[in-house]
This record gives sequence, structure tokens and C-alpha cells, in this order.
Amino acid sequence: MELLRVEDLHVYYLTLRGYVRAVDGVTFTLTKGEVLGIAGESGSGKSTLVNYIILPKPPMVRVKGRIYYKGLELTGLAREELGKIRYKGISIIPQYAMDSLSPTKKVKRIILDLARGRSREDLIEKARERLKLVNLSERVLDMYPIELSGGMKQRVVMVISTLLDPDVLIADEITSALDVTTQRAVLEMIRDFKETGIIKSVIFVTHDIAALYQIADRIMVMYAGKLVEIGDADGVVGNPKHPYTRALIESLPRIGVRYKVKRLKGIPGSPPSLLNPPRGCRFSPRCSEALEKCRFEEPPETLVDGRRVYCWLYSR
Ligand SMILES: Nc1ncnc2c1ncn2[C@@H]1O[C@H](COP(=O)(O)OP(=O)(O)OP(=O)(O)O)[C@@H](O)[C@H]1O
Ligand SMILES: [Mg+2]
Repeated sequence: MELLRVEDLHVYYLTLRGYVRAVDGVTFTLTKGEVLGIAGESGSGKSTLVNYIILPKPPMVRVKGRIYYKGLELTGLAREELGKIRYKGISIIPQYAMDSLSPTKKVKRIILDLARGRSREDLIEKARERLKLVNLSERVLDMYPIELSGGMKQRVVMVISTLLDPDVLIADEITSALDVTTQRAVLEMIRDFKETGIIKSVIFVTHDIAALYQIADRIMVMYAGKLVEIGDADGVVGNPKHPYTRALIESLPRIGVRYKVKRLKGIPGSPPSLLNPPRGCRFSPRCSEALEKCRFEEPPETLVDGRRVYCWLYSR
């Protein structure tokens, strides 16, 4: 069953210097039970894409495209209507959420903000159970965010954002600021929440494709506002098709090889300005396999081994 559908979405930021073309024609669906991972370098438009789904706000401007949640069109809905879907239908843990917990409110108070007509007692009771589930004491309810460690905060954020059992949980870089052990615990928590039916499906955003591989069923790779490749996780990581995906995978440290011993093979050059992105394929200026036409014509969607790839190498 399809929960979410994003069709040819273009979301720009209106700035004094012009439009920043942060998301420029992205199409994908999310089905029930699935974990979709979104990977890509810093600035590729990952946060803009997922924020726009349920938290659109200026200076974001939707230039084109539509979003549907269970057949209901979200694009064009009033903020109030979207607010009713947030937490219960689609819940997002925005990037840096754990650092933006209100410092003057106790955890209990933050949770009660979700009540909105629901029984406060039931909500707190549920929060108690969920805290237990993530190995936190219920005493956390009477604490201020500042009293919690990073790992504890991330678990609290996870409990809050899933308290109303959302169909879709969007998690944006929730493991990035954590040490490896805590990262693993957070990934396990997501898996548990999915297995117990608290959440039905997940969009997991991270620049860390190795972490993604541990959790995602499908992986979507973004570059400079464009989707470059999307398909099953094993295929994308084990046999990447797009030169950018390949470079991204090759830049990962091999298992057992320490960062210090072997320098990472980075991708030469840097992502383009999205105020004035290159013509043709946006990766072409950095691509070692670029053909002449890559610099002038946008690559069409091509199906390669059941995977959607946007690259001229596959559609000559
Ligand atoms: N409020 C804003 N105004 C103008 N440009 C913005 C704004 N927010 C983001 N951008 C630009 O939009 C582009 C995409 O940013 P976004 O934060 O979506 O990328 P990201 O892939 O999430 O990066 P990261 O991995 O660093 O989180 C970048 O070029 C960024 O500079
Ligand atoms: Mg981001």
C-alpha cells in the first residue's frame, strides 16, 4: 500500500540573489512497511525535500509538483490542515531537533503540547511506556532537556515524535551527532518501533550511506537538488550505477580499514551553486565519465536492473 507519493517536486528558496534550486524535480513513493533512505552530500537538498512534505515554510517556494499522503493531496493544504496530519500521519524529526528542544520546558510539558484535545493522562501514560521501551526512566518526564545526554535527548525526541503512532516517520540526520554505539542504539530503536507497529514506514535521511545501508530497504541518492539514482539498498550499494553514487560508495572506508591508515578517496571538486546550477547533468563538471552531451542536456530517467537512474551513460 502506497503511503506517500512525491511527484516531480521543485522547491526553491527565494533569496535576494535569486532562486536557490534546492529540490529540482524529485519523484518517489513510499510504501507501507518500507524504510527509504535518502543519501547525498551536504547541500544536496535532502532536508529541504523532507521538510517540505510536512513542514513547508517561507522562504521555500513550491514551483512545481505535488505530494500525496494516502491519496490526499498535501500540496496546497493550509498550515492548519497539515498540522492535523503531523505527528499522527506523518511525523518528522527535523535535522538538529535534539538541540532545539525547548530549554525552559520539562519533557512532560513538551509532551503535553501534543495533547490538543486528547486525554493528558493517557498521553503521559503512553509516554511512560515508551520511555521504558527505549530504556529511559520515567523520571525523565520531570527533567529539562539540558539535564539529558545527547543519546538520551535523541531517544526522548524519538519518543515524542512517535507518540501518536505515525504512519510515516521522517528522521533527518538523527544519528549524525552521536557516537558509534549510540548511533547503533538509535538504528535499533527505529527497527523495534517498526517491528512493534508503532511506526509503519520510515524515511531516513543521512549523508552517511554506511549507516543507511544498515537500515534502508531502498536508497535514493540526491545530488545538487536532483535525484540521481533510486533502488533497492543492496543494488545501490553493491552495484551502484550512477557515477556519483559510485564515487560516494568508493569514498567510504572499507570495513576494517581505519580512517588514519588509509585516506578516504574523496570526490574531486565541490557541488555547484544552486543559484545558478550547471546546464545538463549537474554532476557533469565533476564526473570522470562525462560525455559531451552531459554538459548540455539533462539526463532522462532510465531503468537499469529495475533501478531508476538519471545518467546519459545508460540511455545513449
Ligand atoms: N533558508 C534558506 N535560504 C536559502 N537557501 C537555503 C536555505 N536553506 C537551505 N538552503 C540551500 O538549499 C540547498 C539545500 O540545502 P539542504 O539543507 O536541503 O541540504 P542537505 O542535503 O540537507 O544538507 P546537509 O547534509 O548539510 O544537511 C543548499 O544549497 C542550501 O544552502
Ligand atoms: Mg540536511
